[in-house]
Amino acid sequence: MPSLGRLLIIGYPLGHTLSPLMHNTAIGELGLPYHYEAEAVPPDGLAEALERFRVDEVVGFSVTIPHKETILPLLDVVDEETERLGAANTVVLAEGRFVGTNTDGVGFLRSLTEDGSYDPEGRAAVVLGAGGAARAVAAHLALAGASSVVIANRTLSRAERLADDLARALGRQCFLPLPLEATATADAIQQAECLINTTSVGMAGDPRLPVPAAWIEPHLMVCDIVYRPLETPLLEAARARGASTLDGLGMLIYQGAEAFRRWTGHEMPVGIVRMRLEEALAREEAEHS
Ligand code: ATR
Repeated sequence: MPSLGRLLIIGYPLGHTLSPLMHNTAIGELGLPYHYEAEAVPPDGLAEALERFRVDEVVGFSVTIPHKETILPLLDVVDEETERLGAANTVVLAEGRFVGTNTDGVGFLRSLTEDGSYDPEGRAAVVLGAGGAARAVAAHLALAGASSVVIANRTLSRAERLADDLARALGRQCFLPLPLEATATADAIQQAECLINTTSVGMAGDPRLPVPAAWIEPHLMVCDIVYRPLETPLLEAARARGASTLDGLGMLIYQGAEAFRRWTGHEMPVGIVRMRLEEALAREEAEHS
C-alpha cells in the first residue's frame, strides 16, 4: 500500500490545536490518501525541520506561532502578498521547493462575506488589536475595498506602526491608528459598520470585553476571531444589544480550507468540519467546567 501524503502543523508550543481534527475530518470525508499531524518545532529547530520535511517529501504544512514571520527567508518562493504582509501560515512543497502563502486574511474575508453576509466594500471598519491577526484582517478589509480601517490598540505605538506598515505595503491611506480606550475609538465604532476583535481579551475564562458594551449599537456587525469560547463576552454583549455577530471558527475553517485546496486540490467539506470542531469545543468546555 502506498504511504499516506504527510501534512503537518508546526508551532511552539502547539497547545490544543484544532487543525489536525479539521484536516483529518476533511481527509476522511473525501477518502483522500493524506494524514495531518501536529509537530512541535522550537524556534531554533525550524531550519533543520524544513530540511527534514524536504527529504521526507511532505506534501505541505501549516505554520503557526512563533514561526509565521521567521519562516519567510527559509522558503524558496513566497507570493507577493505574503511577502508584503511579512507572514506565512501555509507552505506547499512543490517540485522540491517550499512555496509559502498566507490564507488568514482570505479565511477571515470568506467568513465575513459567506457566514456573516457582510460585504466590506465602501464601508468603515474598526479592528481591535495590532498583532499578527490584526495585520491579516486589516489588510484584507482594505484589499476588499473598505472605506476606512481604524486600528485601535492598547499600545498606541503598535497600532501606529501597523497602520504605517500596511499603508506602505498596500499603497492605501485608509488606515487610522487609535488608542483602544479613547473617546475617538468609541466615535469610530459608532460610525463604522463592522467591528473585529483580534485581541486576546475574552479568551477562555476571561470575562472581559475589549471595549465597553455601551459602545456597541444594533447596526454593527461584530466579529471575534477568538473561538475559545465560541461565544466570547464581546459577542454575547453584542447579541444582547441587537448587533449581528460572527464567531472566530469560520476564519479558522476557511483559512484551513484554502490551505487544504492548495495541498490536495480538493474543496474542504466545511459543513461537516464545522460540526466536528463545534463538538470538540463543546467537549473541551464541558471538561473545564
Ligand atoms: P496575535 O499575533 O495572535 O494577534 P499578539 O501579537 O500577541 O497576538 O497580539 C495580541 C493583541 O491583543 C495585541 O494587540 C495586544 O495589545 P498590545 O499591543 O497593547 O499588547 C492585545 N491585548 C492583549 N491583552 C490585552 C488587554 N488586556 N487589553 C487590551 N488589549 C490586549
